[in-house]
Amino acid sequence: MQNTIEHPAEIVPVPAAAREGTSCTLEQYEAMYSRSVNDPDGFWAEQGARLDWYRAPTRIGEWSFDPVDIKWYADGQLNICHNALDRHVAAGKGDVTALIFEPDDPQGETRKLTYAQLLAETIRMANTLKKMGVQKGDRVTVYMPMIPEGAVAMLACARIGAIHSVVFGGFSPDAIAGRIEDCTSDWVICADEGLRGGKKIPLKANVDAALDKVAVKAVLVVRHTGAPITMTEGRDHWYHELGADVAAECPCEVMDAEDPLFILYTSGSTGKPKGVLHTTGGYAVWTETTFRYVFDYRPGEIYWCTADIGWVTGHSYIVYGPLQNGATALMFEGVPNHPDHDRFWQVVDKHKVNIFYTAPTAIRALMREGTSHVVKHDLSSLRLLGSVGEPINPEAWRWYQENVGHGKIPVVDTWWQTETGGIMITTLPGAHDMKPGSAGRPFFSVCPQLVDGDGGVLADETTGGAAEGNLCITRSWPGQARSLYGDHDRFTQTYFSTYKGKYFTGDGCRRDADGYYWITGRVDDVINVSGHRMGTAEVESALVLHDLVAEAAVVGYPHDIKGQGIYCYVTLNAGVEPSDELAAELRKHVRTEIGPIATPDIIQFTPALPKTRSGKIMRRILRKIAENDFGSLGDTSTLADPSLVDGLIEGRLNR
Ligand code: WTA
Repeated sequence: MQNTIEHPAEIVPVPAAAREGTSCTLEQYEAMYSRSVNDPDGFWAEQGARLDWYRAPTRIGEWSFDPVDIKWYADGQLNICHNALDRHVAAGKGDVTALIFEPDDPQGETRKLTYAQLLAETIRMANTLKKMGVQKGDRVTVYMPMIPEGAVAMLACARIGAIHSVVFGGFSPDAIAGRIEDCTSDWVICADEGLRGGKKIPLKANVDAALDKVAVKAVLVVRHTGAPITMTEGRDHWYHELGADVAAECPCEVMDAEDPLFILYTSGSTGKPKGVLHTTGGYAVWTETTFRYVFDYRPGEIYWCTADIGWVTGHSYIVYGPLQNGATALMFEGVPNHPDHDRFWQVVDKHKVNIFYTAPTAIRALMREGTSHVVKHDLSSLRLLGSVGEPINPEAWRWYQENVGHGKIPVVDTWWQTETGGIMITTLPGAHDMKPGSAGRPFFSVCPQLVDGDGGVLADETTGGAAEGNLCITRSWPGQARSLYGDHDRFTQTYFSTYKGKYFTGDGCRRDADGYYWITGRVDDVINVSGHRMGTAEVESALVLHDLVAEAAVVGYPHDIKGQGIYCYVTLNAGVEPSDELAAELRKHVRTEIGPIATPDIIQFTPALPKTRSGKIMRRILRKIAENDFGSLGDTSTLADPSLVDGLIEGRLNR
């Protein structure tokens, strides 16, 4: 399938403002990129030297993709919490603001924590965890709202060498229980409640429900809203009580670079969520370096990433990337449209935000509400915009740059994944012209390659040229995930077996003749709903758990705001009649099983699913029908019952 796609795409030149004082010009990018691939060890030794090490690494990249064994800085020792906090305080920057907390309610209290205060809080939490018995290497589940204590919980774990597993606050008790069980975590840190868009999220009650299914030794509860909650004697502890009288010192644990830092569960195309494992040294260097170059952070600036700490974007670009750079990061508890559609812009104006990093789904949702919400506020502080999580359509890109970025500042569209630890493909603000809809060029050391279905090479940085195919990365980079927790075989199988010896991203992509990469979306059974990864298999499992459901097949379909919506084909047990009420009940059922982000958008009942004679569900056909693309269903003659297709199309047309 070698091809040479030309892109008549619009090119937006590097805005003048970004050229001045930038950390990286085009010439520098080219020199640094070429050094980073020709002498990766020299390059990454230098980048890593910005961090403090207890023992400086002499071994840099040691990796193989067949068999899969990845190590960076293997003989180095460091602590990422030290690098995020203590290092800056020791350098006299203790009074610099580290975190600004903007609450859900605009009338609520904004909090600011300096580096010295954030360090003190982290020490308090770390000593509280120790008091509970948490030790180096233990897994700690963190189920927190977007409040500073969420970041503190992560940093405290890192400080004492415990491995955090943050579970997004929107996940259900079942999802929490599954994640606790998978990594055999004995400890949970949560808050009484979270607040989002004026709605209360019963975090502690969800933990209680999860702990009906799986036991832990102790739960540490942070008081946030003050709502009445149930505390189980001997198991549950209030942070403000247990942490009241702990010591004010807590030395950082000396970590080997390859000691685990965190586990983060993410959806795959099959089975239960995978516990992606990141280790300390490579991840620290990768997040520090990518943040530094991609966001071109300058002292004194206010940086705001709207992600949640429950996702990898929050890990790398709210907590570890910004803090290791000594930046001031804003943490926002709320949502873009509460109390009104101008909330983001009101916060940008209020805190004079300079760098703003959000997801296309939010941009599209706000775009729909019109510019009146944007012009109400002074956004002149903004200097750089970012996008992450899913492909951004050129229309949304332009709206973002023109209205939010007053038509003259750079937009960095950053492609990466939970498994990559940090940004992989992006333009750099002072270096690269931008093409709306394209993520841009590879970051230092990243070697993307497009391959066809058989693994034949279509294009990479050495061949150049335009092509479209499946996106692989051919060499390791420091931020790469090392394994799936407790299941290295599944790690190898999932990422390195489709194209032996290469990391396969699961994304489709094209490269244009200028070397810009255009992500076309997932090519596996993972869908991207509002920037959240969702395995269709997970939604299917949830549906068939319902008593009345016989079978289900779930696919993605284009959705104006969410990027992709969740389309479910459901077959009911014999004798059960389809109804709108039952569809509503099934949607609620999936919400309860997984969480609100998995709520089906469309449920279509069908007497049977289209299958081949050997019983395999023909997903290709289901996808096409969900996409309203009936003209290209392809060959349906291999179906056991070809007549089914007409009924499916009819069902689709009725929505
Ligand atoms: C998609 C989020 C296009 C992609 C950081 C990837 C993107 C998946 C972009 C990872 C982007 C992320 N352009 N697609 N700029 N960023 N994706 O693990 O399909 O939650 O594989 O990491 O999101 O999602 P994850």
